[in-house]
Amino acid sequence: MYFNTRGFPYHRGRRTRANNSFRELVAETQLSVDDLVMPYFIRENNDNPIIKTMNGIKRFSEDELIIELEKISNSGIKAVAIFPKIADEKKSEYAEESYNNNNLACRVLKRINKNFPKLITICDIALDAYTLSGHDGLINSKNEIDNDLTIEVLTKMSLNFARNGCKVIAPSDMMDGRVKIIREKLEDKNHKDVCILSYSSKFCSNFYSPFRDALGSKKNFGNSNKKTYQIDYRNRNEALKESLEDINEGADIVMVKPAGYYLDIIRDLKNHCIIPVAAYQVSGEYSIIKNASDKKIIDYKDTVLESLYCIKRSGADLIFSYFSAEVAEWINK
Ligand code: PBG
Repeated sequence: MYFNTRGFPYHRGRRTRANNSFRELVAETQLSVDDLVMPYFIRENNDNPIIKTMNGIKRFSEDELIIELEKISNSGIKAVAIFPKIADEKKSEYAEESYNNNNLACRVLKRINKNFPKLITICDIALDAYTLSGHDGLINSKNEIDNDLTIEVLTKMSLNFARNGCKVIAPSDMMDGRVKIIREKLEDKNHKDVCILSYSSKFCSNFYSPFRDALGSKKNFGNSNKKTYQIDYRNRNEALKESLEDINEGADIVMVKPAGYYLDIIRDLKNHCIIPVAAYQVSGEYSIIKNASDKKIIDYKDTVLESLYCIKRSGADLIFSYFSAEVAEWINK
């Protein structure tokens, strides 16, 4: 970009910053309720609603979720992401519960479709909520996360959610080739309108820790890590490559995750792809802002808005954020 200026005093940057009207007039980035996706943790009726590491966010029972969704659809939010915390005794080595037609996520999908048929439902496709290990994939006899074996289960899981009315299938597991196979199977079984939002540039991040607490997968996960499948945070080209590959395989939307520390990646993707780019402001990003503002270190509302505007400015078309429901209310006022 070339800026032909004769400098001061022909140019004074402060002229268009002088007051609020000017600042609004020249603002380059807009944030709308239409851009926001709200993630929800759901639980079995007898499970604990409190998530210790995410102050202000809870696990909803099915009934509570329906009441909450009434509220947020009135505020204009059009999409929700659903994360079930299933009962411990339903977790298994081969994650069979993930393709049970009446599992927690499916029961919720059925009720959402009945009560809010227009609401866009996004379901995470990964096995971490269903495995004893807390890993996104299955472990084989060599004690490795088995790519192709995992995809077989992910495909069954995707079809299960599609059958129950899920509108967006969102693979977050980072196995190679899963978008292609899920896409082909969805076509095969006549789920032609189901969207695939691929968590394509997903980094191996420490900022997911509160999420694992919310799902109850943290304890099982122990000291292991997801480095053999999630991207090393030092790698920018690799992140771009993963997203371009997923587009090729049939993804309708790609995603960068986490968001706030990965704005360069969001911009790279935006510059290289012509399909929508999503960004996920993850649980750790949420809790850091929430805790610092609870302690009066920073201002809550201003910091939340800054964090989201900056993600938007970097090129994200849509943003997953645990602040979405609250921000929608602020924007509407
Ligand atoms: C599951 C999944 C994770 C998140 C979304 N889907 C955790 C992980 O990969 O360990 C993280 C979301 C968040 O931290 O808010 N694969």
